[in-house]
Order: sequence, then structure tokens, then C-alpha cells
Amino acid sequence: MGKKTVLVTGGAGYIGSHVTVELINAGYDVVVADNMSNCDLTCFEGVKEVTGRTDIPFYRIDCCNQESVETIFNAHAIDALIHFAAYKAVGESVEQPLKYFRNNLDSFITVLSVAAGHGGCNVLFSSSATVYGETDRLPVTEESPRQPAMSPYGATKQMCEDILESSVKAAGTGIKGMALRYFNPVGAHPSALLGELPRGVPNNLIPYVTQTAIGKRECLTIFGDDYPTPDGTCLRDYIDVVDLAKAHVAAVGRMVDGKMKKDYEIFNVGTGRPVSVLEIVRAFEKANGVKLNYRFGPRRAGDITAIWADPSLANRELGWTAQRTLEDTMKSAWEWELHLAALNKK
Ligand code: WQD
Repeated sequence: MGKKTVLVTGGAGYIGSHVTVELINAGYDVVVADNMSNCDLTCFEGVKEVTGRTDIPFYRIDCCNQESVETIFNAHAIDALIHFAAYKAVGESVEQPLKYFRNNLDSFITVLSVAAGHGGCNVLFSSSATVYGETDRLPVTEESPRQPAMSPYGATKQMCEDILESSVKAAGTGIKGMALRYFNPVGAHPSALLGELPRGVPNNLIPYVTQTAIGKRECLTIFGDDYPTPDGTCLRDYIDVVDLAKAHVAAVGRMVDGKMKKDYEIFNVGTGRPVSVLEIVRAFEKANGVKLNYRFGPRRAGDITAIWADPSLANRELGWTAQRTLEDTMKSAWEWELHLAALNKK
């Protein structure tokens, strides 16, 4: 049987580029679409170098533009579509909600409409644990109730899950759907040729850690040390981006091989291991032999105390389990930061 083709929207971004690598490694043909609004070509160049594939079709398009998306479906027989193309800064979504609702909903509706117009396909949606909000029943399973979104960003994730489920149920779309709810994606590719590329001051913990370690930031502020947790700092489920990418390959395989048990499925993608902010700092220092300058500051508005996954459904049904250790991840994050510094010196 011929190779299957996967369209990865947002495929030049942090998670999209890592998923593209693993799909190619698994024998898929990949088509990448990205409007480059939140990344540059660094990661996509890294994908080509890591895979040795310089012929990856790349469309610099906005997924909100139906004509542009049609161009892709007219040129390629798409067997599966993974939708990453969205804005993802929680804080920015609070300041600019309409920008987030328009872009994140319109882009997904557009690609679903075009897919349906071409007879449908398997659609994998990049969702987020943020849909669970704050819960005291931990770890969270896929049956855990979604809480009212704590940001417009989180609301768009919940809405896109509902849009996908409705599209699957509607007659005649030919769409089968899966939502992967990520916890905290972290780290970089072991080659150090692709990783996270935050624009401006990083919101997320790991890029702030690595930028502090390399001297781009003066000091890491740990937001709150008075939470009801063992060391007073927040607990999260930090999932290595390569493990996360491999979960996407397992999910695509389940879809294209007709192994889904329902036409719409949801999986938590996490390690099942809660880790505190302070434990991250200590693990980073130990893994890389560096001393991190940090201080404790006030809690950050909107932060929840703790969340981590029960990943057993994905472990069982996708045949996927996170493999990389926290040490592996901390090393990869640091190697990537060093690579960026070397690039900037060129
Ligand atoms: C992690 C922990 C902070 C920065 C968000 C989104 C989620 C997903 C991942 C997109 C928290 C603490 C952070 C710093 C700190 N995004 N921290 N100092 O908020 O858990 O999740 O990013 O899919 O949807 O909600 O991730 O990395 O921002 O924070 O102390 O400079 O690190 O308080 O406890 P978060 P994060």
C-alpha cells in the first residue's frame, strides 16, 4: 500500500515541527502549512536537516483563507490532518480575546470545511489540558469534567473540541476526529536543531529557565512558594516534546489503520508524573551542571495549583508511553538554547 499523506497545519512551529520529524521517520509523507505568524524557519530547516528530506511540501498560508487551504487539498490526497495552527499565549488571549477567537476558531472551521468538501479525512486536533481548568480530583482522566475556561485561549480549545465532535457526528462530512489533550510540552529535539522559539519574554517556564541560564534573562522568578504542595510551588505534568510527537504518530496510525473504536476520541498525553517548579529548577541545574539564578515572587494570576494526567488510556489504546526522563528533557532544552546562541552569533 502506498505511503499515507499527513497535512500538518502550524507545522513550522514548536510541536508541529517535532511531529513532522516523527511522522517522516515513521514513513509518512508530510505536507506543512504555516503562516509564520508565530515562528520563523529555524525549526523547519531543522526538520529538513534531521530527516534528510529537502522535498517536504511547504505552504506559507493562513488557514483562515479557504482558497489557500483548497490549494493544498487539490494538490495532495490528504489521509490525515493534524491541526496545530493557532495562537497559544494564555496571557495575550486575555488582552486580545477577539484576535484569539477569530483566528483559532476560523482556522479550524476553514480546514474542516475544506476537508469535508473533499470527502472528509482523519482529523487530529491539538488540544490542551487547560480544558480541565482547576480540579482537586487528580490525576485527570479523559472523563474528568471540563471546567469553564480560565482564558479565551482555553475557551478556543474547548470550542474546537466541540466543533470537531459536531463535525464528526454530522452526516456526510466524512470526518473522523481525535483530540489530544497535552499537558506541559517541554524540551527540544536531541539534535538541538529544533525546539521552542518563544517571541519576546517567554511566558512558559522552561524557555525562561534556559534563557536565564544562558544570561539572556537576569533572574527566574518562581511564581509563588506558598501553594498547598510538598515544596510550595505549583505541580505540572511536563511532557517531553519528542514523546508528545510520538503520541501523534501513534494517534495518526490508529486513525488511518481504521483502529478507532469511536468516530471521535479523546486522549490525555502526559507522563502521569507531577513535578514542581522547584524540582524543575533542581533537575535543570543537575542535568546541565549549571547554577540557576532564581528568586521566589508572588503567585501569577490564573495559575492553578496542580494538574497532571492519568495517561493510562493513551498508554493502552495508542500503545504509547512517555519514555524520556526529566534529565533527558532538561539536557535537550539546554542544548537547544546553546544552539540558538551559536546561531545568533553567526
Ligand atoms: C508552568 C509553571 C508557573 C514561568 C501553559 C498553558 C497551557 C500550555 C502550557 C499551550 C507554573 C511557573 C512559569 C516563570 C514560573 N500552553 N512559572 N516562572 O501555565 O502550566 O500552562 O503553558 O498549550 O495551555 O496554560 O505553563 O510554563 O507558563 O508555567 O514560576 O517565569 O511554572 O507559575 O506554575 P502553564 P507555564
